[in-house]
Amino acid sequence: MAKKKVTPYHAESYPLPLGFNGRLAGTYRWFSGRPLNGHRYTDATGFRYGTMATDISGRATAYQLMPGYKRFLYARLPIMVAPGAAAAFLVEPGQASMAGLGLATLGIKELDKWRRTRRFRSWITEPVATGAAAILKVKHAKGQGHTWVHVPEDFRDDEHAKIRINLPPEWIGDPGDKARLVDMVANRLNLDELSPSWSWTNGRHTVDMSVPSKPPPAVSFQDGLDILANVQDTELAMGLGTRGRPEIFSLAMESPHLLIAGGSGAGKSVLLAWLVGQFMRRGYGVAVLDSKFLSHMWLRRVPGVLYASEGQELHEALLWLEDEMFRRARARAKGDMTGFQPLVVVMEEMAGATNRLRQYWNSIKVNGDPQQSPAITAMVNLSSMGRELLMHVLMAGQSLTAKTVGGPENRENFQGRTLARATAAQWRMLAPQIKPAPTKRQKPGRWHLVVGDTLREYQAPFIDLKDETDPNATARLIEWATGGAEMPDVPALLASWLADQGDDEETSLADYARSEAASSGPAGISLRTFAQEQGLSLTTVQNWKARPMAGVPFPVEVGIGANRTHLYDRDHLKDYVRARLREPVTADGE
Ligand SMILES: Nc1ncnc2c1ncn2[C@@H]1O[C@H](COP(=O)(O)OP(=O)(O)O)[C@@H](O)[C@H]1O
Ligand SMILES: [Mg+2]
Repeated sequence: MAKKKVTPYHAESYPLPLGFNGRLAGTYRWFSGRPLNGHRYTDATGFRYGTMATDISGRATAYQLMPGYKRFLYARLPIMVAPGAAAAFLVEPGQASMAGLGLATLGIKELDKWRRTRRFRSWITEPVATGAAAILKVKHAKGQGHTWVHVPEDFRDDEHAKIRINLPPEWIGDPGDKARLVDMVANRLNLDELSPSWSWTNGRHTVDMSVPSKPPPAVSFQDGLDILANVQDTELAMGLGTRGRPEIFSLAMESPHLLIAGGSGAGKSVLLAWLVGQFMRRGYGVAVLDSKFLSHMWLRRVPGVLYASEGQELHEALLWLEDEMFRRARARAKGDMTGFQPLVVVMEEMAGATNRLRQYWNSIKVNGDPQQSPAITAMVNLSSMGRELLMHVLMAGQSLTAKTVGGPENRENFQGRTLARATAAQWRMLAPQIKPAPTKRQKPGRWHLVVGDTLREYQAPFIDLKDETDPNATARLIEWATGGAEMPDVPALLASWLADQGDDEETSLADYARSEAASSGPAGISLRTFAQEQGLSLTTVQNWKARPMAGVPFPVEVGIGANRTHLYDRDHLKDYVRARLREPVTADGE
């Protein structure tokens, strides 16, 4: 098992040590883990992993790429031990079983560790190696990235982590290639930046890339205000990120809504105060939907803020907001948004709100009304609107499962997601593209922001909402938040809308909900809403549209809604479904 250097492409078979040729060759190959036919499939040696296939086919299995000793350990030793173990079992069944059990336990642990390592390699190390091989213009043996690319498994959490790549000795990267290599690694690992250090020591050519230093441990309200000095009106300052740089969320994207997920005590209310304050200073109206009543006490003290908690309040606020959204969409379609003020809608723990809305709807609905509360439909619709309608949704909660957010499709409307104290399960659910997910941070106010494939860690400014460290903290927050542009009086807007729906508030609102849900308004209805109403699958309806039946044309659209959704006449759609199914549609109790 000489660890002898061989030139891969010329060696077709492993050299046999002196005295082991001829009859003993098989024995030697067996114990050294070499292929028994003597053929050389890879450049693996006794103790080193192979990096490439040397067989003419150019292929090598993971097993063939293993160092010889591992091949012996995994494939040959068990074969040799098996008869002995069987004999031991016959002689001493009790002890042999115990020993077997012990070995199995150890084996399972090892297996688990091995699987984690394997997963990490195939998710993280391999993609980096593939990208690097392309830039370095070297051949990459599949599955062998870890032999020359080292990514520490805890690189998200350890600010001293370094990613190392062994470079081919002959590679003289020009500055462009070097920058590309570093960028590629940062991208694949969802890191915002890496600092490379290139070295040529002991005949080894390597690059070590350091991950950015962590955000500062604490950010004060004043620090936050300092950041704001350089923030545009189309941006939100989140806090201070890695290397102490301001972390920004752009509101200029198509779906400018934020999901704010964090366990209790993670800092959701503090972050929301900081974000809502920024909106308020820019003259946004604020509507808070908070089924927990007390989540944003400071906002209850601000005149002009709509704060809804009871079933009826939530119901009214949501129907108004939905109508507001449709009116904006229509105005926008005509190209005239004058008179519409920007709004920010804060939704807190909507699982509780959904229950309350359901209860309330059951208490007011009459025969012929839709089963589902129209306010719940409205809640889902709200986050589907685009930035051009000047309404933003900030949705906060502990779990934000698809159910509480209004379906998995609706979660897609939130292009920005920020997580604190998140578990592995939450990461899988809300940001599956981030691999590996960061481990749970305990520090309150420590957040991650995910937008598409980018992941940023930041510390949010601390605002003492409980006036614990400073008796004037909330007073100062309110003074700051209301000290900018004039805000619209949202409760007054809602009240005048309610008045327009008729004199008697309660029945009129139910009437309104009924008329919106049961007849098609001029704005029409999206296929998604229609499918939901009728208990059809959206895919079915979309398939029908894509492949219409001969003689039954799909209805023409009657308008364009938020997010450029095509809107249709509800009755046209119903007729179409009838024709398609050749049976009456009864889902809404016609
Ligand atoms: N950005 C922050 N910096 C420092 N401490 C914070 C920060 N945000 C929150 N905290 C601490 O965590 C506590 C809980 O915050 P809170 O926003 O009420 O959490 P949640 O709404 O997620 O339950 C606060 O009282 C505060 O002491
Ligand atoms: Mg809270």
